[in-house]
Order: sequence, then C-alpha cells, then structure tokens
Amino acid sequence: MNPIMLSNLRPLTLLFFLLYTSTSLAGQPTTLKGMDHMKWEKVLPGVWKASIGELQLNALDYTSPPKTKAIEELGDSPFPFDISQTYHHRTPTRIGIRLPLAEQEKIYGLGLEFQGINRRKQVYTLKVDHYGGVKGYTHAPVPFYISSKGYGVLINSPQRVKIHVGVSNRKDSQLPERVDRTTGGNKWAARPLSDAIEASAIGTGMEVYVFTGNTVLEVVQRYNLYCGGGVLPPKWGLGFWHRVHTQSSDQDVYQEIADFKKYNFPLDVIGLEPGWQNFAYPCSYDWDESRFPKPEIFVNNLSQQGIKVNLWENPYVAPSSSMYTSIKPYTASHTVWLGEVPDYTLPEAQQVLLQHHQKKHLDLGISGYKLDEVDGYDVWLWPDHASFPSGHDAVEIRQLYGLILQHTLQEHLRKQNKRTYNLVRSSYIGASDKSAVIYSDYYKHKPYVTALANASLTGLLWTPEIRSAESPEEWIRRFQTVSFSPLMMLNAWYSGTKPWSFPEVTDMVREVVVLRKRLLPYLYTAFYDYQKSGIPPFRAMVLEQGFTAKEQLTAGQLDGVDNPYAEQQRLEVTDQYMMGPSLLVAPIFTGEKSRTVVLPKGKWYNFYTGQYIGDGETITVASKLEQIPLFVKDGGIIPMIAAGEDLNSGSPKLEVRHYGTKVNRYLLYNDDGVSYDFEKEQYTITELLVERRKNGKLEGKRKIKTANQNFKFQDIDWKWMSANMK
Ligand code: GAL
Repeated sequence: MNPIMLSNLRPLTLLFFLLYTSTSLAGQPTTLKGMDHMKWEKVLPGVWKASIGELQLNALDYTSPPKTKAIEELGDSPFPFDISQTYHHRTPTRIGIRLPLAEQEKIYGLGLEFQGINRRKQVYTLKVDHYGGVKGYTHAPVPFYISSKGYGVLINSPQRVKIHVGVSNRKDSQLPERVDRTTGGNKWAARPLSDAIEASAIGTGMEVYVFTGNTVLEVVQRYNLYCGGGVLPPKWGLGFWHRVHTQSSDQDVYQEIADFKKYNFPLDVIGLEPGWQNFAYPCSYDWDESRFPKPEIFVNNLSQQGIKVNLWENPYVAPSSSMYTSIKPYTASHTVWLGEVPDYTLPEAQQVLLQHHQKKHLDLGISGYKLDEVDGYDVWLWPDHASFPSGHDAVEIRQLYGLILQHTLQEHLRKQNKRTYNLVRSSYIGASDKSAVIYSDYYKHKPYVTALANASLTGLLWTPEIRSAESPEEWIRRFQTVSFSPLMMLNAWYSGTKPWSFPEVTDMVREVVVLRKRLLPYLYTAFYDYQKSGIPPFRAMVLEQGFTAKEQLTAGQLDGVDNPYAEQQRLEVTDQYMMGPSLLVAPIFTGEKSRTVVLPKGKWYNFYTGQYIGDGETITVASKLEQIPLFVKDGGIIPMIAAGEDLNSGSPKLEVRHYGTKVNRYLLYNDDGVSYDFEKEQYTITELLVERRKNGKLEGKRKIKTANQNFKFQDIDWKWMSANMK
C-alpha cells in the first residue's frame, strides 16, 4: 500500500490496518526465558520447516510427494511474520512452540470442526475421536491453522497437539494493560489478549511448517500441494450413493435397484453395511453366505447395470475371520469389541489385509470401502497405554489410523490403475490426496454445513449424509444439502429409508439429485483443479476474495466502515459455501421461511433464473421448498449435462450456462473417469470462451487445448442466463 492510499484511510480503519500488519510490536522481547529460537529451513518457495527432535510416526509419510512445480508456479514470498519471534522449548514431558500473533489476526482451520470458523481465543486439544462437542475432539483434528494475514502453520506431530489460539500470557511476553475487574466494567477480560499462538504435544519430535500465500486460498493451496495435491475421484464417486439396511440380502438389494428404476432415480453406488459379513463388530471381512451366497455374481450383476459396490468394515478382526491367523502376529495388546487390532504401521500387516481384500472383494469388482470406527470413543477403542508390535505409541497409532488405512487401500488400487472413492470416519494431516470422504454418526443439519466449510481449510472432504428425517420438509432440505457436497449419499443402514420415503417431496428429491448429476462436468473439473492446483472444490467463504481483513484493507473495502470487527463477523459465515469457481450454495434449514446470504463483491445472479441479485451485500432470500438457493458470479460459466441426456454417458451433450454480463474463459476437463491415466496426459481440456460481438451480444466459442482429444464433448449448447435476454 502506498502512502497516498494510507492517508486516504479513515482513522479507525488506519488503526485497524496498523495493528493488523505490525508483526514486531514495540517493546516485544527478543528472547524468552527457557525458550530457544526456532531454526527455519526453506524447503520450497513459500514453504519453511523447523524440526525439533525426531518424529516416530510421520503423517507426511502417508501422503503423496509435494507437487513441487505447482508450488513454484504460485511464486515466492518472504517469511510471513517476525522470524525472531518464533520459539520452542521442552518441558519435562512436552515439546512446546510459540509463534507471534497480531491483535487483528483471525485464525481458521484445525480440522473438521462443526462450530464456527474463527478459532481465536480458544484452546483445542486435537484428538482423533468421534465428534461429541469437546473442542478439538473430532474425526479429523488437523494441526494446521491459517491466518487471515495470509500464512498457514502446520504442526506436524503424531501426538495430540494442544493449541492455545491467542490465549495464555507469558510473563515476559507483551501483555495488555491490567484492568481491575471491580471497576473496569467490560474492559476486564477473562481471556486477556495474547501476542502468540502457543502449542505443545508430548512425544520425541515435532516439525513445524509455514506456508505463505497472497490470499488465504493460496495458503490452503500451498498446504494441499505440499501434501501431494487434491484428489481426483472417479466419476462414479460423484454420483448417487445408497447404503442399504444392514440386514439386506442380495435379493433385497436387487429389489431396491428395481425400485430405483421404478421411481426413476439415478443410482451409482450401493453400499453394504455390516450384515454383508458373516460376523461383525469385530469383523470377519468374509461374506455371509446366507445373505450373499454368490458374491461374485452379485457384484457382477450390479456392475452390468453400471452400479458399484462399496463395503462397510471396521478394522477390528474377529477370530472367525479368514485373515485372523495371518494378522494375529501383528496385532496390539488390547482388543476392540474383543477383536484384534492390527498394527497397520507394519508393512506385513498391510499385506495381510490387502491380500485378503484383493481375493475376497477387489477381484470380484468391489470399488472401495467405508472405513468405520477408526475414530471411536475412548470407552471402546484401545487405551493410550496399549502396546503395538511396531513399538509405536498407542496414541500416535490412533491419531494416524484412519489416514494409514486410506493410504494403504488407495495406493494398492493405484498400482492396478484404479481410482477409488471411500468413506472414512477419521483423517489427519496431509489428507488432500486421499480419495475418501469423512462422515459421522452425529446428525445436526446446520453444523453439518459448517463442517463442510471448515473441511476445505485443511485438505478434507466431508459428506453431510442423509439418514432419516422427522418431516418431508427436513427430508428435502437435507437431500438438497447433500446433493451439493463431495459425496451425495443416503445412508439407510438402520432406517431403511429410500429417496422416495416421503412421497410429498419425492419429485423434489429426484430433481435435486438429477441437478447434481447434471452438474458433473462442472464438479469434475473443480476436482481436477483440486488435484492440479490444490483449490478445494467445496470452499468456506473465507477462502473467497474479499472475505478476509487483509484483502479488505488492501482493497480499501473497509474505508467508511465504522466497525471493522462487525464487518469481519458478517463475513465469517459458515452456513453457505462455494462449489467450484463460481457457484455459491446457501442451504435452507427446516422451518426457515427465508435466509440471509452474504454475497462476495461483484455481481451475483440467481442460478435458476439468471436474474441479478446483488453485489457484496447481505441479501435475504425467501425459501422455496423445491429449491436450494444457488447463486452464480458475474461471468460464471457452468457446463452441465444437457437435460434429458444419459447422465452416465462418457461425453454427453452439454448445456453451457453463462451468467451475468462479463466475458470470461473456463477450462473444461474430461478424462476416462476411472484410471490414473490422466497423470500421463490422457485427458482433454476444452476452453470455453465467452466474448462480446460487435452488436453487443455475447457469443460462446470452444477450443480444445490439449493434443489429446479422446475425451472431448461433441455437442455444446450455450445458454445465456442473464444476458442476450429479450
Ligand atoms: C456406524 C456408522 C454408521 C453405520 C453403522 C453400522 O459406526 O457410523 O454409518 O455404518 O456403524 O453399524
């Protein structure tokens, strides 16, 4: 910002700016008692690392290597805060770190959280656990935080990191003014302002990474790219999933599929719940012959109809399992539900699992798994003092268990050139390249949407799955949300529900499921961007331009805003999110007659009608039962499968929608949808270009940008949603 621009700022905004941008505050000490300065090494442009001791288990060993070229393309930038204010120390049992924090910084991230988005002034104990409301106890507690100032910090530890986000005040730190509580009124604070983020964990080592970015989104991209980039799921994974009742037999499933046809619902994946096995909790992983006498015929039958099969399992091995004897030498001291707990940090244990699953499931055509109970509550998982044959600490194994299983199965299938899409109930650091979506037994609609937004900050995918509802209204509302998420699934494992369980809204349910399926070209391209550039396909609003204080200040957006704090709060919404580059999704919750939507700067249009709806302000939209509110950015280009086309065809006729009046360009991605050949340039990219003709009308053109044309779309119909209107 140049001095002229600075002088243009109103005094309050200027104060906000100065506080916000100052890293080394006057009077800040350059040494802290008992703490050492951290030693940073630059590992890639915009990525620094400091190591303290040695890690026993390293989550980054279970990710793909960094996408170096893509990180380099993001450009370089200096270390983002005062390096002399970075410290570490050891207590008798813990490794601690301390990093500076300016007064106005907002802190996002820390994994799959269901409440809020700004983590400042809170303490989180990041423990893999089934979500139950304790701060930091969640399915994917990722020790990666992002500052609104445009940097991120990863605390790579396999232990439970305890993080104090701008609370806790060292004696020798820069302390705020002390206020007498009796006379100080609301100036007294139970959590006095702290100038640092402090974190600690037990264990032998810790690595700390710093990622920079010109925007908050770029920070997330760098983190994702460092962890191998985002995942590109198979196309079928982005279709409709139905998990049947746990006691279903092959005949029941055939009947359900017939009903899907009868009700004219698309179906891409059938999920079998515990009852496909002859013993569950602990698991045998062997088919139950009374319910599935001929599994190979069953899977083949479904495959002929274009339906994949996904198998539920938990990791705990029943004595009756055909892999029991082979896995037993590699199991822990304790059991879970009286089943053996394999030590999957051992390659030998991984081999037993893979050989069994290959022969019994994958050879038959099973497409993937639902990896359940890799989180679990303390009352049924192994205790922290359990011992494992690898010698690794039981807590570390628990933090990484879900990640290791995802990695093991995904890499096994990769060797066969097959992509998979799984479900998993726990994840951790470095999960962006994992082809698995997290879910929970917890079932609150609004927090589910918050989780969707938060997941995008730390390389996670989350499904707000639908299981049951108390009213037709709730049924359609939940269906609408899950249709705009990484995995569109009805999990009827106990409810036995079907998409048509509430006849009053069946047509609406079908409509939104079909809409999601029609959006596949757009969504698949968004996942390609995730894979290549680390841009999450579903994003919290704070990842959008203009949604963080730094951007607003540099853009002068807070000039004239009397209360920048309130403005920040307005922007920290978690009940709306982005899907792909230009679609804003604002789910409606049961009982709501209307809702507010915070629009990013720029003109926005109604997805359904193309009508202009606003620019940067908070709008109120009336709810319609049959529609989830969707909005498109000016110039937004949305490629969809044309109405009435075969939704599963490899290169269907497309309808390309354009919204607003801006000219624009969009790169549409397509490939075989199932293999890793895209890594060998086996894909087609079509440029969709919107230009303005001399007569003022918009015109759409397309051009293939890749040598490979095998996956081009034959027919494209342009649809001008807002412009070129009579
Ligand atoms: C739960 C899981 C449910 C369902 C059930 C089957 O742990 O979260 O989605 O799979 O197990 O027993």
